[in-house]
Amino acid sequence: DTWPKDVGILAMEVYFPAQYVDQTDLEKYNNVEAGKYTVGLGQTHMGFCSVQEDINSLCLTVVQRLMERTQLPWDAVGRLEVGTETIIDKSKAVKTVLMELFQDSGNTDIEGIDTTNACYGGTASLFNAANWMESSYWDGRYALVVCGDIAVYPNGNARPTGGAGAVAMLIGPKAPLALEQGLRGTHMENAYDFYKPNLASEYPMVDGKLSIQCYLRALDRCYTSYRQKIQKQWKQAGIDRPFTLDDLQYMIFHTPFCKMVQKSLARLMFNDFRSSSGDTHALYQGLEAFRELKLEDTYTNKDLDKALLKASLDTFNKKTKASLYLSTHNGNMYTSSLYGCLASLLSHHSAQDLAGSRIGAFSYGSGLAASLFSFRVSQDASPVNFSPPGDTNNLFPGTWYLERVDEMHRRKYARRPI
Ligand code: HMG
Repeated sequence: DTWPKDVGILAMEVYFPAQYVDQTDLEKYNNVEAGKYTVGLGQTHMGFCSVQEDINSLCLTVVQRLMERTQLPWDAVGRLEVGTETIIDKSKAVKTVLMELFQDSGNTDIEGIDTTNACYGGTASLFNAANWMESSYWDGRYALVVCGDIAVYPNGNARPTGGAGAVAMLIGPKAPLALEQGLRGTHMENAYDFYKPNLASEYPMVDGKLSIQCYLRALDRCYTSYRQKIQKQWKQAGIDRPFTLDDLQYMIFHTPFCKMVQKSLARLMFNDFRSSSGDTHALYQGLEAFRELKLEDTYTNKDLDKALLKASLDTFNKKTKASLYLSTHNGNMYTSSLYGCLASLLSHHSAQDLAGSRIGAFSYGSGLAASLFSFRVSQDASPVNFSPPGDTNNLFPGTWYLERVDEMHRRKYARRPI
C-alpha cells in the first residue's frame, strides 16, 4: 500500500459578498405573501456582488487568503483545480488567472484547470485532486481546490434563491478531514432541470419543480450506491448489518435553499425506512402508511412530506442544521455551496465534538451530476500547523529550520537538502 494516508482537507477559506438583501424586504418588494422566502424557502438574506467583482476576483481572494493564513510557500502547490459555472470566457480558465498569484514564486508546474457542470464542478475538482494524490503522478506537493459562483436569476420565483461566494481548500495527506476511500455513490443522467444555453445571458433556464425532483431522485440513487459500497467494505471486515443515518454523525448537502436540505435529510430517513422491515426504528412510526407508495409518487406527496419532516426533525437538528448557517444568510453559492456548509458545520462544533465522526456529503449539479461521499474526522481534530513563513530556499543547503510548532508548543525541525 503506497498511497498517502488520509488524503483530504487540511484547511479552508470562505468568501461571501459584503452586500446582501434582506429576504423580508424582497418579499415586500416582489409583492408576495410574507414568509414565502423566509419560511417557505428558509432564507433570511441573499448575498450579492458589487460591480467590481467577478468570478476571477472571488477566486483570487480565497486563494490568496488561504495561502497567507497557512503561510505555505507558493511552490508547495502542485495542483490547482477550479470548479465553477460562472463562465466569463469560453476558452480561458479561471485557473489561468489564479496563476498570477504564483508568478513571483516562479512555480508554473501546477496541473489542473476548470471543471464545469452546474453546482457539481467543485466536487469534481476535489475528486480530481484526491485522485492525483493517490496516483503515480503525485509529486508530494499539496493541491488547491477552488470553487466559486455568482448565482443570479431573472425576476420571478427563482430569484430569491440567488447568492454568491467562493471557497478554497488545501488538499493533502494526513488531513483532519479525510475522504473515506472507496466510498462515493454517484448518479449521472441527462436532464433539463436547470441549464444555461444562452451564452449571452447570465441567467439560467430553470424548471424549478423538475429540478427538485431530479435532486431528490439523484439523492436516492447516490445514497443507495454509497450504502452498497460501505456495506461491502463492512462485510469484508466481518460486519453484516445495514448502513443507516445512525452511521453518519453529520450530513451536509448542496443547498439551493435551506428548506430543500431539511427535506433531503428527511428523504434519507425515508430511504432507511423503505429498506427496513417489520421491527422498525421508533422514529419511523408515522411513516408506515407510506411504505407501499409507488416510488414516483413519493416525490410529490405532501402528506408524506409532512410526516417525514416531523419524523426527522430531531435528526436534522443534530446532524445538519448547523451546516446551513452560511446558506441561510447568503443563499446559493452553486459549486461552493456544499463546502460553505462544511465550513459552517466545522465552525459550529468543537474539535472534541467532531473528533472521530463521519460527515456525509451530497453534491448535486443540475443537468445532472451527483455524488454522495464522506469525510472521516481524525481523532485529533485540532487545527493543522503548517510550515513557518519564509522561503527555506534562502537558507544554505544543509541548514536546519523550524518546520512546525504543535498545539503543545513543541518545535519540530527539518533540514534543507545538501
Ligand atoms: P415557488 O414557486 O416559490 O414555489 O418556487 P412554491 O410556491 O411551491 O413555494 C415554495 C415553498 O414555500 C412551498 O413549501 C410553499 O408551501 C411555501 P413546500 O410545500 O414545498 O414545502 N410557501 C410559504 N411558506 C410560508 N409562508 C408563506 C409561503 N408561501 C409559500 N407565505 C422554487 C420555489 C425552489 C421552485 C424556485 O425558487 C426555483 O425555481 N429556484 C431555483 C431552482 C432550485 O433552487 N432548485 C433546487 C434543486 S436543483 C439544484 O439544487 C441545482 C441548482 O443549485 C443549480 C446548479 O446545479 O447549478 C439550482
